Amino acid sequence: MTTEVLEAVETPPGPFKEEPAPTPKVLVKSYGCQMNVYDATRMADLLGREGYAETQSEEDADLVILNTCHIREKAAEKIYSELGKLAIAKRELNARGRDMKIVVAGCVAQAEGEEVLKRQRAVDLVVGPQSYHRLPELLRRAESGARVADTDFAVEDKFRALPAPSRAQIRARGVSAFVTVQEGCDKFCSFCVVPYTRGAESSRPVAEIVAETRRLVDAGVCEVTLIGQNVNAYRGPDAQGRETTLAQILELLARIEGLTRLRYTTSHPVDMGQALIDAHAAIPKLMPYVHLPVQSGSDRILKAMNRRHDAQAYLSIAESLRKARPDVALSSDFIVGFPGETDADFEATMALVRAVGFASSFSFKYSARPGTPAADRPDQIEEHVKSERLAALQALLDEQRRAFNDATVGRKVDVLFEKPGRHEGQIAGKSPYMQAVHAEGSIEHIGREVSVEIVAAGSNSLSARLMSEEAKA
Ligand code: SAH
Ligand code: SF4
Ligand code: F3S
Repeated sequence: MTTEVLEAVETPPGPFKEEPAPTPKVLVKSYGCQMNVYDATRMADLLGREGYAETQSEEDADLVILNTCHIREKAAEKIYSELGKLAIAKRELNARGRDMKIVVAGCVAQAEGEEVLKRQRAVDLVVGPQSYHRLPELLRRAESGARVADTDFAVEDKFRALPAPSRAQIRARGVSAFVTVQEGCDKFCSFCVVPYTRGAESSRPVAEIVAETRRLVDAGVCEVTLIGQNVNAYRGPDAQGRETTLAQILELLARIEGLTRLRYTTSHPVDMGQALIDAHAAIPKLMPYVHLPVQSGSDRILKAMNRRHDAQAYLSIAESLRKARPDVALSSDFIVGFPGETDADFEATMALVRAVGFASSFSFKYSARPGTPAADRPDQIEEHVKSERLAALQALLDEQRRAFNDATVGRKVDVLFEKPGRHEGQIAGKSPYMQAVHAEGSIEHIGREVSVEIVAAGSNSLSARLMSEEAKA
């Protein structure tokens, strides 16, 4: 998010004019998953309509919104240390006759509600992920001194109540955008807070998704990632009220001219049906990269996690995806040290990783979350065991990521350039496989898919050379 597009130009006050009220500024800081990143843009759009300009700096913010994550203890605790710092800044501002409102949004807001107001006195407002469309009204109440917590699961359609972003807002956010198609989760994995913080699964209607994507593409976006806590469980209604699948939505969106790339995340293995797998063969715009969390390779642990599939089912999906799209890259999430995990269970995870071969992955130590079934189990794993397992798993995943990156050296791939690179004369973007790529080239290539040859693989990004005809363009 940037400030420029919404910044009002202040005219100097004339002798008879009243001084115009300065434009209030809002800073939205997002933590956690892509869903929060998307929600942050929608909150900024909404507040833009209310006359707020976006800022990146805490110093000039009149309003700071922390869009929080509750997934692991560390993520939630980080919010309170952040709030502690904001409280000091607010006190200093108050001493100088200015104010800064502090809002806690997102999943910590939903999970802890009024507790947040009690634990940190400087917080003015707590708003859950299903009620942020009410922000303007809630802020007015906060202005008059009330400390409010709104964590209702609203009955009205939040998305319909939110204003569409302007072309300038879309452009300022770059050529790649998220579109939420599905929210919430009914799976209740025994370790996870999401079903409690985001509520039941619900899918947006097809027409809304198509209209939102068209608007983005018309303003210059060329890559759209469809997001949802369980995006492949999407079952939204079409104009006739018929249930539509994610594969069908992808097919519809792929017809939009000017849209060059489609992605979706995050998928659950249980909802990875054949139609979606086939879409990877049928839709060239659908990128060959699938994030498919498995959590564990042990059937016993998968069962205790309530994941509803075994390791073999996961291996079969990986195989089918590779049959449909031989170059598909897979990524995953893992949890080590789930209650009761033995060395043999952990070895089964390592074996699954070796069998699949991942392009990249996220791995975490199990974190007991209040209110989830696994948190109450007596067989919690000791911290040092979790740390050892995490280190071993991460070493293997790192090795696989490096091998995957090395294998692209010498290959010709299409890169969507998104921004200027870190050095003068460089541009940076993403390969079809989500690898960060930089090359020497003109900024005119930004917003285009360009053919490059990968010349070297570093630890975090690939360097590339534009193919001669592209370099001339
Ligand atoms: N819906 C997705 C995951 C959403 S949460 C899915 O089902 O795969 C993102 C990741 O956070 C999870 O995949 C999991 O690896 C991790 N995670 C969730 N709860 C956790 C916990 N209690 N401790 C550690 N990691 C957790
Ligand atoms: Fe959490 Fe499981 Fe739902 Fe994913 S599928 S959001 S891990 S409960
Ligand atoms: Fe975190 Fe909520 Fe996303 S708990 S991972 S921000 S759904």
